Amino acid sequence: MTIGIIGSGAIGTAFARTLARAGIEAAISNSRGPDSLRDLARDLGPTIKAATREEAARADIVFVAVNWAKLPAAMAGLPDWKGRIVIDANNAIEAPLFKPVELGGRASSEVFADLVPGARVVKAFNHLRAELLATDPRADGGRRVLFYSGNDAVAKAEVAALIERLGFAGIDLGSLAMGGKLAQFPGGPLPNQNLVKLG
Ligand SMILES: NC(=O)c1ccc[n+]([C@@H]2O[C@H](COP(=O)([O-])OP(=O)(O)OC[C@H]3O[C@@H](n4cnc5c(N)ncnc54)[C@H](OP(=O)(O)O)[C@@H]3O)[C@@H](O)[C@H]2O)c1
Repeated sequence: MTIGIIGSGAIGTAFARTLARAGIEAAISNSRGPDSLRDLARDLGPTIKAATREEAARADIVFVAVNWAKLPAAMAGLPDWKGRIVIDANNAIEAPLFKPVELGGRASSEVFADLVPGARVVKAFNHLRAELLATDPRADGGRRVLFYSGNDAVAKAEVAALIERLGFAGIDLGSLAMGGKLAQFPGGPLPNQNLVKLG
């Protein structure tokens, strides 16, 4: 199973750091190309490689963490998704104004899914601040909780297995329409809930 990351900012780097900690390989990309990522990849560790956006998008699991307004450009012109898994770590709000985006009553992940036709979208890794996501998930005598939601059971099971392998405790929230809304920011009740599963 290969992993690609599109977006090397706060959340893309935090995710890459959790992968590196677990010794899992991934290709990380941004808008400026691999040369701009060499130092970051070196800092993250030997399992994380700098890549182009297209290379990252060819992975079995593609993690996307890009500013909401830039997502259409970031997802444009990529190879056909053909059922590959895309993890939506995005929130429909942006600095510096933090003005909620009009989503027409849909979950933000449903709107995001329109940008990756044919992909199996799982929403995850979006409910905690990047600095917390990057830290060791084994905390306070337990494992930090991550939520995930999606419409494809097999894709969700693969992301759930990755979440567990990284040392987090995963909680399945159901479909994108129901569960995605619970975990989305702004609007859902779960963002920034730093929960730890004991035992
Ligand atoms: N920061 C948090 O604590 C946090 C928490 C939960 C969720 N989120 C969500 O995660 C997403 C990313 O947030 P962030 O804080 O990581 O943002 P960020 O630090 O500003 O990083 C955004 C990344 O997106 C990349 N990007 C922009 N346009 C692109 C394109 N056309 N192709 C490829 N990459 C492109 C940028 O690449 P360049 O550097 O080359 O421009 C940058 O690496 C947002 O949707 C945000 O709402 C953030």
